[in-house]
Amino acid sequence: MSMPSIDWNDVWKQFRSNRRDSTQDPEFWNKRASSFSRHASGSDYVQQFIDIMNPGPAWSVLDVGCAAGTLAVPLSSLVGSITALDPSMAMLSLLDERCLKQGITNIRRINGRWEDDWDALDIGVHDAAIASRSLITDDLSAAILKLESHAGKRVYLSAMVDDGPHDRRIVEAVGREFGPRADYIVVYNLLRQMGRYANVAFTVNKEEKLFKDVADAVNSLRWMIQDMTPEEEVRLTGHLQANLVRNSEGWKLPYSRVIRWAVLWWDKE
Ligand SMILES: C[S@@+](CC[C@H](N)C(=O)[O-])C[C@H]1O[C@@H](n2cnc3c(N)ncnc32)[C@H](O)[C@@H]1O
Repeated sequence: MSMPSIDWNDVWKQFRSNRRDSTQDPEFWNKRASSFSRHASGSDYVQQFIDIMNPGPAWSVLDVGCAAGTLAVPLSSLVGSITALDPSMAMLSLLDERCLKQGITNIRRINGRWEDDWDALDIGVHDAAIASRSLITDDLSAAILKLESHAGKRVYLSAMVDDGPHDRRIVEAVGREFGPRADYIVVYNLLRQMGRYANVAFTVNKEEKLFKDVADAVNSLRWMIQDMTPEEEVRLTGHLQANLVRNSEGWKLPYSRVIRWAVLWWDKE
């Protein structure tokens, strides 16, 4: 069967250009660094990703968009060495603190992004290269080729499934449209078009967040509404006042959500 003549890199670019999105701005991640790292390091995603990855004990690993070491920190005791790359200085400072506190000495930290010159950053070739939830770039095929050229054995990516971690009910409650987002199938199709026959597995987490009160819920959910205006915040507060339900431990939304990430990996030829 011949492949339809869709350019999946263009499809990816279109999804990204249709959205108001400041996630490519390191300032967005600087502001979110501590709450993201608290949430990410306590989530089941990490263990599920590592189980799928099944790394070799002597591997060198490149972790692009490492944040505060969501994967790099737990991987540090399972592999030989890690190069952790991220454009957010706040994330890298948190990673520094975690390494210092836990006596981790095999993580090299680099301030950089997909679009940088990786030779100038002296990234080098590693056994495995991973991009976990960090495909934050308009030119996806360039990013994939770059990641692959810095992997000697294997490449791992993880990409969003359906709405990913975003709760469309929250976005719509403030009066915004929840536009279509590129889920993993776009990434998979692009890989197929590039001649990469990737394996796929899914991480699955049930999200049921507990909040201390309405203000805590607003703060915990505000990352979904980039550049939230005061009027939108009033609407979000009203929505949560009307919908949060109380249990013996605190307040929660009246529904739970299943969040999946697709982990795609392939061996270098
Ligand atoms: C959702 S977090 C994922 C972090 C971690 N890999 C994980 O799975 O928890 C996305 C990370 O990608 C980084 N990032 C954003 N734009 C980037 C870019 N252009 N190049 C590389 N990393 C980027 C952010 O600073 C942030 O730390």
